[in-house]
Amino acid sequence: MNIVKAKPARDNTVGVLFVCLGNICRSPSAEGIFGHIAEQAGLAHLIQVDSAGTAAYHVGSAPDLRSQNAAKRRGVNIANQKARKVTVGDFKRFDYVLAMDRDNYANLLRICPPEQKHRLRLFLSFAPHLDCEDVPDPYYGGPNGFEIVLDLIEAASCGLLEHIQTNNFQ
Ligand code: 4NP
Repeated sequence: MNIVKAKPARDNTVGVLFVCLGNICRSPSAEGIFGHIAEQAGLAHLIQVDSAGTAAYHVGSAPDLRSQNAAKRRGVNIANQKARKVTVGDFKRFDYVLAMDRDNYANLLRICPPEQKHRLRLFLSFAPHLDCEDVPDPYYGGPNGFEIVLDLIEAASCGLLEHIQTNNFQ
């Protein structure tokens, strides 16, 4: 069964969907961290945040405990999220569909309706100063990988929020 999380309706809010491979490490972390930063900026009511995976291996699972613990150390609770697979409908529903790495981007491009291609971007394009395109997959690596993931996510989340404030709310 494909478990589908509550999804935002198309209203006057801005929808942001983070996508990685399994939806248990990088994209749920980005959902949590970006949601937290938006909340701190007083914009949580205007931005709908969600995450998904290009693969279905972990559908219905909570984020990996290593990601949960790394996020918790930065004051963000991601324990209540549940993995789901991305759908073609997500490109209609979300203004920003943000791939965590270039493989995820290529997989998303294959299913993205041509008229919604402008919504698909690499997440780290919002942190050009990093000179890095991919949030590296931490799943098979050591604990430091989860900290690197969060450092990259925090940097790109700040850039994304600035971009949304300039382009969507002014
Ligand atoms: P994620 O990490 O794409 O950041 O959620 C992974 C999680 C699981 C697997 C690969 C990457 N896996 O092969 O099961």
